[in-house]
Amino acid sequence: MKYILGIESTAHTFGVAVLDWSSAPKGHDSGEPNILSNVKDSYTTKEGGMIPMDVRKHHKKVASKIYNKALSEAGINETRIKTIAFSNAPGLAPCLLEGMNFTKKIAERLDVPVVMVNHCVAHLEIGETIGAKDPVMLYTSGANTQVIAYESGKYRVFGETLDLGVGNFIDTIARYVNLGFPGGPKIQKLAEECKNKNELIELPYSIKGMDVAFSGLQTKLKNLIDKGISKENLLYSMQEVVFAMLVEATERALAHTGKKELLLGGGVACNSRLQEMCKIMCKERDVKFFCPDRNLLVDNAGMIGYLGLKMYKTGIFEKDLSKVDIAPRERTDEVEVLWK
Ligand code: ATP
Ligand code: FE2
Repeated sequence: MKYILGIESTAHTFGVAVLDWSSAPKGHDSGEPNILSNVKDSYTTKEGGMIPMDVRKHHKKVASKIYNKALSEAGINETRIKTIAFSNAPGLAPCLLEGMNFTKKIAERLDVPVVMVNHCVAHLEIGETIGAKDPVMLYTSGANTQVIAYESGKYRVFGETLDLGVGNFIDTIARYVNLGFPGGPKIQKLAEECKNKNELIELPYSIKGMDVAFSGLQTKLKNLIDKGISKENLLYSMQEVVFAMLVEATERALAHTGKKELLLGGGVACNSRLQEMCKIMCKERDVKFFCPDRNLLVDNAGMIGYLGLKMYKTGIFEKDLSKVDIAPRERTDEVEVLWK
């Protein structure tokens, strides 16, 4: 039996996954991915947000433990690993470097090639394991907010944020009201507890074509918080406005491309209100809705291994470790999609 290792370290999560070689058949055949283990440890903090160097220290500290846990959960010996896929782009440089160094160390020891995987594309590709064949993806995470779909050899970005990633925006507001990091789940809970849901507080709604922006909204929210407006009501209204913007951009992309599937990706997509609003829009447009299970929706190494294996089977891998590098700013539409 042969195995591939997936390693994720673009931002707050350090993860290692072991996948069976049959997990990702070459070409269009999407199989049940045989993800034998998908272990991670995410950096969290009560205050201060994500400081890249601190996150790097976190990754360094947990790396070996996570690696050993992934191997033991999969029940394999490392000598069976035939290649290692790691997310080399996009992300925070210190975090990416930690993941790359860890990858190279193992690759050297085992004398196996390395596959460099784009994290955003991995979010998209894992969708096929739940049946999404040609979706528009709404990718909403900490740093990323993009509406992406496949067209002539590449994943194209149809719409995106013009300033902050929606997760970072939500986390900033959460910090402003002392909720700690990550703030998304806590804001969701407070919004659910809002008692006067029919009294929406008026907030800036900023969408141009398929692009969105959050900085004006952020300033306005901070002002209102300073004025002492009810937190529950404000956070509820914030979710309604922000998610309506995202759903509108996504709906435009669906109309523009004529595609009939919507796939969610990224940590913010864990939000049940966002999922609900997407489902309503899909029903109205007769579009199929796909949302991976939480462990494959948030940052994880399983999706990196899954796409890495498809790339490997297409011949995209690197044996010369001196040519393996990170690409912190690589964009989704720069990746040549040769494995489709
Ligand atoms: P990236 O993929 O951009 O590197 P990331 O490292 O921030 O992103 P994810 O795990 O995809 O990774 O997403 C984390 C974000 O998801 C955080 O901003 C967090 O607040 C947000 N989030 C998680 N759960 C929820 C929720 N229920 N509602 C809203 N936001 C949420
Ligand atoms: Fe992500």
